[in-house]
Amino acid sequence: MELISLNLKTAAVETLVVPVCEDAELHPNPVLSALAAQAKALPEFSGKSGEVLTLHALQGIPLRRAIFLGLGSLAAIDREGLRRFAGTAVQRCIGCRLAEALIAVPAAARLKITVPDLLTALLEGAFLANHRFDRYKAEKKETPLARLAFLVRSQVARQHRDLPERVATVCGGTLLAREWVSMPANDKRPEQFVRDLTERARAENLDVTVLDQKALQQEQFGALLAVGGGSDSKPGLVLIDYSPRGARRSLALVGKGVTFDAGGLNLKPTGSIEQMKIDMAGAAAVAAAMIVIARLKPKLRVVAALPVVENMISGSAYRPGDVVTSYAGKTVEIGNTDAEGRLILIDAMAYVVKNYQPDTLIDLATLTGACVVALGEGIAGVFSRDDDLAERILRAGRVTHERCWKMPLPDDYKELLKSDIADLRSLGTTRWGGAIAAALFLSEFVGDTRWAHIDIAGPVYRKKADAYCGAGGTGFGVRLLWELIEKL
Ligand code: BES
Ligand code: MN
Ligand code: ZN
Repeated sequence: MELISLNLKTAAVETLVVPVCEDAELHPNPVLSALAAQAKALPEFSGKSGEVLTLHALQGIPLRRAIFLGLGSLAAIDREGLRRFAGTAVQRCIGCRLAEALIAVPAAARLKITVPDLLTALLEGAFLANHRFDRYKAEKKETPLARLAFLVRSQVARQHRDLPERVATVCGGTLLAREWVSMPANDKRPEQFVRDLTERARAENLDVTVLDQKALQQEQFGALLAVGGGSDSKPGLVLIDYSPRGARRSLALVGKGVTFDAGGLNLKPTGSIEQMKIDMAGAAAVAAAMIVIARLKPKLRVVAALPVVENMISGSAYRPGDVVTSYAGKTVEIGNTDAEGRLILIDAMAYVVKNYQPDTLIDLATLTGACVVALGEGIAGVFSRDDDLAERILRAGRVTHERCWKMPLPDDYKELLKSDIADLRSLGTTRWGGAIAAALFLSEFVGDTRWAHIDIAGPVYRKKADAYCGAGGTGFGVRLLWELIEKL
């Protein structure tokens, strides 16, 4: 991706994409505004949101093809609208079997947005849309564009020369997480996934340690091991450490890495089990964020802990009613083997709290169907006793359009987690408020560390393609974490 400046009167451009508003002029450049006026003079195009018009062989200029996209009314255009515009532009060009595109950047002043925010949104939408998950297809029907350029004034191109690469780095993390989540579970069994995570992180010069099953047994990760016991691919805990010189603050990220959630002996029924390859999306988002961090080098220490298991059925699977001793020493009565995420998380979180004492701890997990019932498939639930941390996460989500909503952690609900025979029960005695019960369960293992839990069960996967995300894994959380870290 690049920002370029050229004269449309003389430059031989193959494909130019022009955003057009229905009620305002977006382009100060006279050639562009003449083109937009030419499109709007036609009865089939008025600049309404979703409209598309392609014109060939334009008069008086060497431009070969102009694709006009309607943006609707000026007042309604925000960062997300710009992302969606750029994404739609790229999808159009891919659909037309083009190899490259030049996208005309509208005037920031008219959109009441800063130039870097405008450019970032357009670069993000275009980059994220320029991707196909087709590694399992013999015939690749659509090919991403080989070259993506944005038409700006020469001064803007000069001032923001480094921006395209920066956006590509962050959004490259999102694409990596999408690929991981979309990958079928038979190609990311725990041992394989641990190896993949390790290799990717080491390739970025990150410091990686893996606790394998033996080490986990020695260190008494009783809850994590119980969940992993049912699979013949052994569990692991991947620790990734980014530790820049002179860092004064530290952040720990924990991501749920269940490579397939069959539910265990409380087997998931048909209708719920099919999609459960996505249950490692928390680990994928955190690992991809670590790669972004390694490349963009923020000035704080970031430690990631990724517990990786497969929740399966076998003679060695754990049972409902079992009591396990967690890493923290607290005993847990297993209410349902399908509530496995919280068990691997508490051991990873307790390990991180004990061994790294981070200032802040954030976990990302596809933890509960109840959270999807509450917020739908587009919004993640944020649980924290620290209002400032929760608000920072919500704010980051508003910037990146990875939407988050704050959920409560009522102390009296802890009553639900009481066990007759152990220190805690792994789930509540009622099905109501399941996302809250799960978050409260996690809260028992973070001590007084500043902590937030993000339940991402809804937004990590989509059944239908959208303007800048194909069907499958969405990579939710990667841009959110980066935005949060940048502002932390
Ligand atoms: N991985 C699931 C949660 C999930 C559901 C993720 C739907 C994505 C989409 C989790 O391990 C689970 O099975 N949770 C149970 C908990 C219950 C047994 C208390 C649930 O939500 O039904
Ligand atoms: Mn489960
Ligand atoms: Zn699960």
